[in-house]
Amino acid sequence: MFQETVEAQGHLIDSHIMERIFDTVVEYQGRFEVEVFQIGRTNSEPSHLRLRIETPSADLMDKVLGQLIGLGCTPVDSRDVEIRIVERDCCAPEDFYSTTNQRTEIRFGGAWLTVGKQRMDACIVIENGAAWCRKLRDIKAGDAVVVGMRGIRVIPESKERDRHGFAFMSNEISSERQVDTAVSQTANLIQQMRAEGKTVVVVAGPVVVHTGGVKPLGALIRAGFVDALLCGNALAVHDIEAALLGTSLGVRMQDGRLEEHGHRNHMRAINAIYHAGGIRGAVESGRLPSGIMYECVKANVPFVLAGSLRDDGPLPDTITDMNKAQDAYNEHAHGAGLVLCLSSMLHSIATGNMLPGWVKTVCVDINPAVATKLSDRGTGQAVGVVTDVGLFLDHLAKKLVSGYE
Ligand SMILES: NC(=O)c1ccc[n+]([C@@H]2O[C@H](COP(=O)([O-])OP(=O)(O)OC[C@H]3O[C@@H](n4cnc5c(N)ncnc54)[C@H](O)[C@@H]3O)[C@@H](O)[C@H]2O)c1
Repeated sequence: MFQETVEAQGHLIDSHIMERIFDTVVEYQGRFEVEVFQIGRTNSEPSHLRLRIETPSADLMDKVLGQLIGLGCTPVDSRDVEIRIVERDCCAPEDFYSTTNQRTEIRFGGAWLTVGKQRMDACIVIENGAAWCRKLRDIKAGDAVVVGMRGIRVIPESKERDRHGFAFMSNEISSERQVDTAVSQTANLIQQMRAEGKTVVVVAGPVVVHTGGVKPLGALIRAGFVDALLCGNALAVHDIEAALLGTSLGVRMQDGRLEEHGHRNHMRAINAIYHAGGIRGAVESGRLPSGIMYECVKANVPFVLAGSLRDDGPLPDTITDMNKAQDAYNEHAHGAGLVLCLSSMLHSIATGNMLPGWVKTVCVDINPAVATKLSDRGTGQAVGVVTDVGLFLDHLAKKLVSGYE
């Protein structure tokens, strides 16, 4: 039998981490013995676990440790991390440590360093005594990359911090929950972010425009509740189509009827923006007089339009190099306090992949499977609100923007 002893600290019981640790050992044909367990005796005091593990093979032990590290367990004989130097750009050593989105520390030179720019699916690079997450595509020859599983400590998010502000976090995703309650909680979170000086990033799909969300989202932007807008070509195209021609995908915003030859309208909108040299040019010249993109330009709220295979045009502002689009998203997503994902499966999951696990994330979609998918892809902190996004935004603007009707 192969043996290891690991330790974990935190809110192990009420965050259900302890049972997951035990289940993981058993799943890999291992046996465990609890050597020490000290329960935290107050709501803020952490519990402490020391666990001896046995597995029938070294390979299974590696697999168990790989999983247990993600649950906050660290081998007790923790030495410094093992490092290997990259020989070719974009080619990490085969046994590189692939990160989670949880707060991570590595032991280097006898001291624990917090890893910067935390995100999932990255390598850890050590540079000038500091540790950073870096995507495979950005790894360069000569980089010192962490390999194996020694000297790595992951601190999983515990529920404790969310007992007040984000208390609905653990609720199941359900269409039967009152929308108004979810809107109130989201509004409180946004206010909390503002009070704490943290940013609110909105990720949105074109359904926002189709469902009448232009007015409330525009009002929220104008009132300073949005710090960045991340979306695809379509949201901007249909928003501009609505502003210039009164339709969204050829459907009249006023009465929901199809306009004759309306299917051309989104192309005419794209053309108008090309004539103006881009969205900012169209706003500054007076050509684009209203809408979500207009409000962003007016309020100096940065926006990123990330391209996709589906795009018409695309608009001159749309970034079609996917790596550059990801980097541009990352710049805003990473420092966010709250990310509001509105009716775009593609853009919500893409943004979720970039976020550290402690960034609060609310996902509004009519389909409960979208929030579930976001969670399953690793953005476990995401809270799902199953409702029509236009309705949600209207309620949110009523709660946050004074004078909004
Ligand atoms: N003309 C164009 O250029 C064009 C048109 C469409 C999409 N696109 C691009 O394709 C990509 C994918 O588009 P996407 O993000 O819209 O698609 P998506 O399928 O990833 O997401 C759409 C989401 O909207 C949800 N939804 C539908 N009705 C809703 C409602 N009433 N309330 C709340 N949620 C609702 C769906 O459940 C779905 O999850 C984007 O990059 C987009 O810009 C381009």
